[in-house]
Amino acid sequence: MIRSAIKGIGYHVPSQVVTNQDLTELMDTSDEWIKTRSGIEERHWVQGDEAASDLAFPAAKKAIENAGINPEEIDLVVVATISSDYFFPGVSSQLQEMLGLRNVGCFDLRAACSGFVYALSTADQFIQSGMYKTALVIGAEAQSKFINKTTEGRDISVLFGDGAGAVILQPSQDEAGILSTHLHSEGKDMKNLWMEGPGSSGLNQINKLTIEQAQRYEPFMNGREVFKNAVVRFPEVIQEALDKNNLSMDDVALIIPHQANLRIIQSVAKRMGVNMDKFYANIQRYGNTTAASIPIALCEAVEEGKIKAGDTIILAAFGAGYTWASAAIRW
Ligand code: ACO
Repeated sequence: MIRSAIKGIGYHVPSQVVTNQDLTELMDTSDEWIKTRSGIEERHWVQGDEAASDLAFPAAKKAIENAGINPEEIDLVVVATISSDYFFPGVSSQLQEMLGLRNVGCFDLRAACSGFVYALSTADQFIQSGMYKTALVIGAEAQSKFINKTTEGRDISVLFGDGAGAVILQPSQDEAGILSTHLHSEGKDMKNLWMEGPGSSGLNQINKLTIEQAQRYEPFMNGREVFKNAVVRFPEVIQEALDKNNLSMDDVALIIPHQANLRIIQSVAKRMGVNMDKFYANIQRYGNTTAASIPIALCEAVEEGKIKAGDTIILAAFGAGYTWASAAIRW
């Protein structure tokens, strides 16, 4: 069986750093409230015309360089994002041009915070089937363009940051590679974490928006419900990856969870009876970067020497939809 392996990684965050203290100038909040509720100390936000593709492009270039491949070798691009530059087309088509790729298949995937694991799983199937040999998989978000940065939107806006992370997937030549991926979704509570417009449900921008309608163009979150679901689904999907591969927690070097909220990660570790050391967390410096959070964390964990050749790691995500997903990977 062909197994796909991560051959290159790269990430990029915008240069503007926004601290919790900076946010107090925009809205009624405090460093203490944000830190105790989420663990976040600062995040990076795009400025001016900067958009998701401007973050995805340098992340992709770094991953290509890290893999030591020629961009011409790439034959599939999958971008996980819910903050694409335009409503359509997706960021992936822009990257085809920006990176000077052949006219390869490019598509965006909208699975919110689970997006990167969904995209990785999708690309993995193409490599496993033998259809493609080199896939570029990216999580990229410029969520700060959509959030309400006033006191009215403070429950959400303090949590989110911008950034991008990318990996190159190719067939493995040895034991390393993606061991399994697991994707799930349940739409019944989708309105606990969603953004209503723009959409085909009736909300459109052609008519002049009332104030009430305009609010539906920003994300809404029922934080407590999201928390309750996240702390159940994360352990479930991590356990699923362990069971599928006959692994115990002791066999796993590091779990890289979606950086939703430090309290969620701590609660998941506690519920699973695992020391927090086994869970990678960098939300303190980046906030919640939605689909970009796992590949950024993966890059930093590798840079910090927390993942070594031969290690088994698990990526785990939970987000809007709800969607949740995991991947077991031998490095
Ligand atoms: N600064 C100061 N006060 C705030 C802020 C803020 N940024 N946001 C809300 N508040 C106020 C509220 O208005 C409320 O005031 P009130 O009591 O006068 O009405 C008070 O703080 C408490 O609000 P709660 O909603 O009860 O706060 P809670 O302790 O539940 O924390 C939070 C909110 C952090 C969102 C929590 O529910 C949580 O951790 N949820 C998990 C969801 C999450 O982190 N999602 C991340 C994105 S989704 C994902 O990635 C999967």
